[in-house]
Amino acid sequence: MRVFVTGASGWIGSAVVPELIGAGHEVVGLARSDASAAALIAAGAEVRHGSLDDLDTLRSAAAESDGVVHLAFKHDVAFSGGFADAADADRRAIETFGEALAGSGRPLVIASGLAGLNTGALATEETMPDPDSPAGHRTLSERAALALASSDVRSSSLRLPPTVHGAGDAGFMAMLVGVARDKGVSGYIGDGANHWPAVHRADAARLFRLAVESAPAGTVLHAAAEQGVPLRDVAEAIGCGLGVPVVSVDPADAGEHFGWLGTFLGFDVLASSDRTRELLGWEPTHQGLVEDLDQGHYFGVAVS
Ligand SMILES: NC(=O)c1ccc[n+]([C@@H]2O[C@H](COP(=O)([O-])OP(=O)(O)OC[C@H]3O[C@@H](n4cnc5c(N)ncnc54)[C@H](OP(=O)(O)O)[C@@H]3O)[C@@H](O)[C@H]2O)c1
Repeated sequence: MRVFVTGASGWIGSAVVPELIGAGHEVVGLARSDASAAALIAAGAEVRHGSLDDLDTLRSAAAESDGVVHLAFKHDVAFSGGFADAADADRRAIETFGEALAGSGRPLVIASGLAGLNTGALATEETMPDPDSPAGHRTLSERAALALASSDVRSSSLRLPPTVHGAGDAGFMAMLVGVARDKGVSGYIGDGANHWPAVHRADAARLFRLAVESAPAGTVLHAAAEQGVPLRDVAEAIGCGLGVPVVSVDPADAGEHFGWLGTFLGFDVLASSDRTRELLGWEPTHQGLVEDLDQGHYFGVAVS
């Protein structure tokens, strides 16, 4: 297949690209800068220059492909107070891909998140996120993607855990390590019994490949290698890695201690991936979150 990948230069995209190429596919990656274009060429991909706002570029690149993997997200906008704007751009891109792929039966796989399933109960692929949750605005993107199944697009939504971990991660886990380093303590909120699902980046990349190859139209997939790691276990692994005390932070002080990350750290998300595994034969093979933290790379320790 010739697969158009947005966000191909990002943390997950830079694992998805070699995963696709290694399985014999061709990749065309969207790049908005020369640096991202150079990284894609070095990875063996072709480059389509443009941004998420260039809808004509997205439309023609999708039309010329055998399928689309959509990973780009305006994190810079989202994390500076513009979450709804970033989510709107995401949805517009998905609708544009839908126009280009309608009637073709070709695949569109979008990245979405498990964080919107913050209920403390075990969420399955059939659980629909609460649009009023803190991450709720983005659920409109998932709905838009799944609705494309009725226009003969083989669309799927791949829900990622809040942490897609591994060596080189600059996401939530790296941010949490940064807070612990700055504060001199590794914190968890309350009793730390709340959970986050987790997946290693390489296992997530394999699931994206399996999805573009064969996920049925209108499918929700859960990339939960671990259904829920208690946040206290995470704080202990970080405390051990940095050599700092592990402390409970009162929920009322979470915003002051963790900044905006505090909202996410208070989430209690448990997610099953049984249906995903059964449907696509996905079996995660890489280390779990705590084991990955124990390897030392999050703390500047070289991994041999
Ligand atoms: N990492 C996680 O733990 C995690 C968890 C849950 C969900 N997700 C979701 O998974 C997807 C991939 O995440 P990631 O961690 O790989 O993100 P990332 O490392 O921040 O990469 C984002 C990608 O999007 C591209 N991008 C950003 N703004 C763009 C724009 N205006 N136009 C075109 N491209 C743009 C970036 O291009 P440049 O190279 O030019 O910056 C980069 O390739 C996102 O939808 C994210 O929200 C990630």
